[in-house]
Amino acid sequence: MTSPDSITLHRPLDMHLHLRDGDMLRLVAPHSASNLAGAVIMPNLVPPLTSVEMLTAYRGRILAAAGPHAASFQPLMTLFFQHYTEAALAAAQPHLFAIKLYPHGVTTNSDSGIHSIDAAEPTLKLMEAMGIPLLVHGETTGFVLDREAEFLSIYGRLATRFPRLRIVMEHITTAAAVALLDRFENLHATVTGHHLVITLDDVAGGLLQPHLFCKPIAKRPEDRDALLAAALAAHPRLMLGSDSAPHPQHAKECCGCAAGVYTAPLLLPRMAQLFAEHGALENLQAFVSDNAIRIHGLNPPDKSVTLARQPWTVPSAYEGDPGLKVIPWEAGRELLWSIQA
Ligand code: DOR
Ligand code: ZN
Repeated sequence: MTSPDSITLHRPLDMHLHLRDGDMLRLVAPHSASNLAGAVIMPNLVPPLTSVEMLTAYRGRILAAAGPHAASFQPLMTLFFQHYTEAALAAAQPHLFAIKLYPHGVTTNSDSGIHSIDAAEPTLKLMEAMGIPLLVHGETTGFVLDREAEFLSIYGRLATRFPRLRIVMEHITTAAAVALLDRFENLHATVTGHHLVITLDDVAGGLLQPHLFCKPIAKRPEDRDALLAAALAAHPRLMLGSDSAPHPQHAKECCGCAAGVYTAPLLLPRMAQLFAEHGALENLQAFVSDNAIRIHGLNPPDKSVTLARQPWTVPSAYEGDPGLKVIPWEAGRELLWSIQA
């Protein structure tokens, strides 16, 4: 049900989420599990998730950390891309949603990422034949503002060479990536909430804002506007993927700040506010759920979340054990929309 002042979202999903492990997992998992029907869980742990045993054990820890929300939250598990045999993929497939490919060294914990796309082809061929989706962190190691743009030709090549492989361009940040979506039927994309709102100016145009620093870095206003237009129009191959990526406060507020924006606790209210601001609330359901369910044939738990135009102040920090502190996006700011109990 949608009115100008409230919306009930059915089976909302986060198609790109970092939950970490240990104390951090216990702190952040409830923030997603409480109000989402499912999420695609990133595999860039240390060490990365590369076996079915690691995957199923991690899924168990996620559900334990989700506590009472576990019954209505589906973790969609991913393996870290490496060269896999057909037997390894067959063993993993019943527990697996997709495989996430990181080029070597482009972001947090991507040291075991690939050095050559060509060398990845045998595994990609198997994935295509088996129907396992490929999620890609599409950046080169070039000049920081050009990294995504430089990767777009690789997306094009992958989409052409593997026409039946379902490819997702993760966390797109450029107008050019939006345009590429319409050129290949097997290309899809996720976009974060924060990349629909901020530009590089918000990160580094005034005093440096470490809590807005992430990979890929936010780009130009015209890029943000193209992403926003596609999201507001519920582009059928675009899905919300928060890339919520918590780091302890000390790892963000320091020299050598870690990349990642922690958005999970405010993801849905902030998106409701944004879509309402632009008169596009009726398209939020497709962006946060229907597109993903259709594209991937998902069947998440039947969970609904109602958001209403009721102000809510984002906490200035979330604290866990022992002394763990994470600063969220919009910390201490009042949002116009909130989740209704
Ligand atoms: O900013 C980012 N943080 N981008 C990524 O790709 C990874 C993530 C993380 O794991 O912290
Ligand atoms: Zn990510």
